Amino acid sequence: MAFPERLDGRVVLVVGGARGIGAAVVETFARQGATVVAADAERLSSDVNHYSSRQVGGHTAAQTLATALRDNGLDVTAAEVNAADDEAVQRLFNGIEADHGRLDTVVNAFGVTHVSTVENMTLTQFRDVVGGNLDGVFLISKHALPLLRRAGGGAIINFSSISGRTGFAKEAHYCAAKFGVIGFTASLARELAGTGIRVNAVCPGIVRSNMWEYLLTEFVRPGETREQCWERMRALIPQQEFQTPQDVAEAVLYLASARRVTGQAISVDGGMAQP
Ligand SMILES: NC(=O)c1ccc[n+]([C@@H]2O[C@H](COP(=O)([O-])OP(=O)(O)OC[C@H]3O[C@@H](n4cnc5c(N)ncnc54)[C@H](O)[C@@H]3O)[C@@H](O)[C@H]2O)c1
Repeated sequence: MAFPERLDGRVVLVVGGARGIGAAVVETFARQGATVVAADAERLSSDVNHYSSRQVGGHTAAQTLATALRDNGLDVTAAEVNAADDEAVQRLFNGIEADHGRLDTVVNAFGVTHVSTVENMTLTQFRDVVGGNLDGVFLISKHALPLLRRAGGGAIINFSSISGRTGFAKEAHYCAAKFGVIGFTASLARELAGTGIRVNAVCPGIVRSNMWEYLLTEFVRPGETREQCWERMRALIPQQEFQTPQDVAEAVLYLASARRVTGQAISVDGGMAQP
């Protein structure tokens, strides 16, 4: 059988699918023939995030993306969800059931970051960053399960990070959350091992999305330009190449299809993280 297999007739949900890496995941699955729902938040529960605002405009961006991809003959629709809002998540799955009647793959590609030393971090900031990355992984996974079970199996792919493999200064809350994503993924994979539902995580390294545009603002040194700061980051990567959203999307596609792979976290980071 060809690998990865064609996904015609399969329904794929990508949460955080409007922009950055999630948008590449949406397009990659749609080009494999899947029906893709690109879900994203218009407003988050807190402004402790790399957009520095509750109003992040993700649903509007998802609608623009879906329209552009449909114009190219792909089967993509947009949906609105704040993954950390239990009722909103349940509405999302009710909508998917009504519109598509099935669900095969769920990709939790959303996430937020924020930069602060632990000494300067407030409890609110700590909770907002941990919750902004972890609550939705729990809620989306939990409420996806009835539909995945009904499909006779499926895949959940959660987004961790190089920050789920090693610590970074001024990122303790984000690292705590991304290490947590790996623990959640491994545990849920064991719970579901006999059901045909597989659960894995992907750990990107350095991808120049909106998240890194914010990080550059925080990490740039006095007298340094943003581009010089970006090039300084290259030295952290053994391959000396930044990753692209497409690099990460290809790993997600692999995890969606790899029948015997569950409970794993796969790095796409040019060799930054090693066991
Ligand atoms: N960019 C990198 O270098 C990098 C590295 C490692 C891990 N990651 C992870 O990859 C994932 C994608 O990040 P990105 O770099 O593409 O960032 P991005 O900001 O470009 O995209 C993230 C998307 O998630 C959405 N989102 C955030 N919180 C949400 C919520 N509660 N509900 C619904 N949507 C929500 C945002 O609106 C946005 O559209 C994140 O989990 C991030 O932590 C990114």
